[in-house]
Amino acid sequence: SRSIDLAVIPGDGIGQEVVAQGLKVLSAVLPQDVKLQTTEYDLGARRWHATGETLPDAELERLKGHDAILLGAIGDPSVPSGVLERGMLLKLRFAFDHYVNLRPSKLFPNTATPLEGRPDIDFVVVREGTEGPYTGNGGSLRTGTPAEVATEVSVNTAYGVERVVRDAYERAKARPRRKLTLVHKNNVLVHAGHLWKNIFDRVGREYPEVATDYLHVDAATIFFVTQPERFDVIVTDNLFGDILTDLAAAVTGGIGLAASGNINPTGAFPSMFEPVHGSAPDIAGTGKADPTATILSVALMLRHLGLEAEAARVEDAVSADLAERSGSRTTDEIGDALAARVAD
Ligand code: IPM
Ligand code: MN
Repeated sequence: SRSIDLAVIPGDGIGQEVVAQGLKVLSAVLPQDVKLQTTEYDLGARRWHATGETLPDAELERLKGHDAILLGAIGDPSVPSGVLERGMLLKLRFAFDHYVNLRPSKLFPNTATPLEGRPDIDFVVVREGTEGPYTGNGGSLRTGTPAEVATEVSVNTAYGVERVVRDAYERAKARPRRKLTLVHKNNVLVHAGHLWKNIFDRVGREYPEVATDYLHVDAATIFFVTQPERFDVIVTDNLFGDILTDLAAAVTGGIGLAASGNINPTGAFPSMFEPVHGSAPDIAGTGKADPTATILSVALMLRHLGLEAEAARVEDAVSADLAERSGSRTTDEIGDALAARVAD
């Protein structure tokens, strides 16, 4: 019989609440013969205040042994900006080589969109997750003086770009529309831009069935609003992908629905699944948080673990639930409704 050994990092703010619903739906959807074992990790603001630790190496070592990680959210106004982001979230993504940051966007029925005419939005952003301006390369000179100079150096390696571009081609090839768009800014960021474009074109010759396209990131933001239906799979660098996927969430029902997977496709390290949203300390504890993004992240996790039918059950349940959703429901009520749907 199969089993899932899952690490759970609820984290801060609404993280606890949404993760509880994600686990509820996960337990409800798993077949009898799949044993679920969860281990909770106390990481985030509370631990930092108590011990000064963000993600100790010993914890990283323990996390390595799990099949997957489910993360709620981290970040709190009481912790200086960047401490938990760099010290925990990015540390995990880098240490476990999560080079594919997978962020699907779909306009579900009955969800609010600021776009006219409810376009048929169904695309997935493959955001590079281990390089670009996120590596922390750079520094500051004459800090705090009027002559201060700060640099953030974007790191792009042929190895890192090729592996994420290849993954994106594979995903595009497996989808009915078979279209892949590279988003960058190679008219200004010529060094990194040309590296990306050259590799994109070269690898593309191995995928004649995939139609390709290139957009500068500024133009891409226009099309996200005016013509989002033109996109199928998008591959882009770490920072462009961060910004684009918040915009993608905003046009497809908001951040409460946006799911993500930080994936290591080789299986060398556990992949980590998390809602795109943050810890939302302003609504923590009120029961207003929408757990759907976490529940859809659980679906991505099921698919990654080879449980395709279960992943589809969760996504269909979300779709059906949103179609019927009216009035406001609490975090718990939404979790209950989805757990009930996937169970029958
Ligand atoms: C995200 C977040 C993170 C990122 C932050 C919290 C480090 O915005 O997952 O999109 O920039 O990747
Ligand atoms: Mn972000």
